[in-house]
Amino acid sequence: MFPMRHYLQFTDFTREEYDYLFKRAAILKAKLAAGELYQPLIGKVLAMIFEKSSTRTRVSFEAGMAQFGGHAMFLQSKDTQLGRGEPIEDVAKVISRMTNIVMVRTFEQSIVERFADNSLVPVINGLTNEYHPCQILADIFTYIEKNGSIEGKTVAWIGDSNNISRTWLQAAKIFNFKLKQACPRGYEMTVLDGQKYDVEHFETFYDPYQAARDADIVTTDVCTSMGFERETLQRRKDFLHYRVSEKVMLQAKANAMFMHCLPAHRGEEVDPEVIDGPQSVVWDEAENRMHTQKAVIEYLLLGKVEE
Ligand code: CP
Ligand code: NVA
Repeated sequence: MFPMRHYLQFTDFTREEYDYLFKRAAILKAKLAAGELYQPLIGKVLAMIFEKSSTRTRVSFEAGMAQFGGHAMFLQSKDTQLGRGEPIEDVAKVISRMTNIVMVRTFEQSIVERFADNSLVPVINGLTNEYHPCQILADIFTYIEKNGSIEGKTVAWIGDSNNISRTWLQAAKIFNFKLKQACPRGYEMTVLDGQKYDVEHFETFYDPYQAARDADIVTTDVCTSMGFERETLQRRKDFLHYRVSEKVMLQAKANAMFMHCLPAHRGEEVDPEVIDGPQSVVWDEAENRMHTQKAVIEYLLLGKVEE
């Protein structure tokens, strides 16, 4: 048996592992498209713990598990004893005795880490305040699928220093591309993983046009993430000039892709002409959540599958 692994942040896998996972995701996607039944996880159970709302994460994990012949169990903290104060350590010990793999969407990263420390089975981060590894996994797969290697490319992030942009930054170092962020003063990136990011991989701008110049990907996200709702009004004012418009897209390369993890607020962080326009790949990103997460689940439970 291989050692148990968790996927709690993007740095938990190496570049070689990502190359394998992307190859595997493409194979799993092709099998599904061909109508081929591939059910390596019959009798296996994925527990999904949600302390925040979700559409894509729930559907992609649940559909993926069903396709694998397994079962996914949807647990909202408000309906479980977790919502009534049961310690996360106890919840982890109990749930991991009855299931084979767990996905957790929660607030602080420390919660998912404490869960993993007490779990008998692999744990996947389905979004925390700090990171969203499954999202960037799908986004990079989407870029590669459409355009080849992301190495040496430029990703312009117009917006908040949040779970998504922090995960892009971790990925920049692993895949050797550059993240150029444009954000209002006071919203600059705070690096949490103790790593140093040099100018080859990361640069901050206050002007969205400058950040978007010659970019291969332009991407953004809501200015107020889940859990930060009390800051909504202030953030709406502060991010007023950080919307991805057609003018911002014109600064990027002619073949640049627009990405957004969704859900989006048209007219706030992105204009409808951009998200619903020809450069947008947001629906592929959403679908690819399922194919790439299937590759991760398979890898964590069965190791490398050679076919
Ligand atoms: N992108 C994403 O994680 O979407 P949900 O919040 O709908 O899961
Ligand atoms: N940054 C957003 C992403 C939602 C998928 C949030 O955390 O709410």
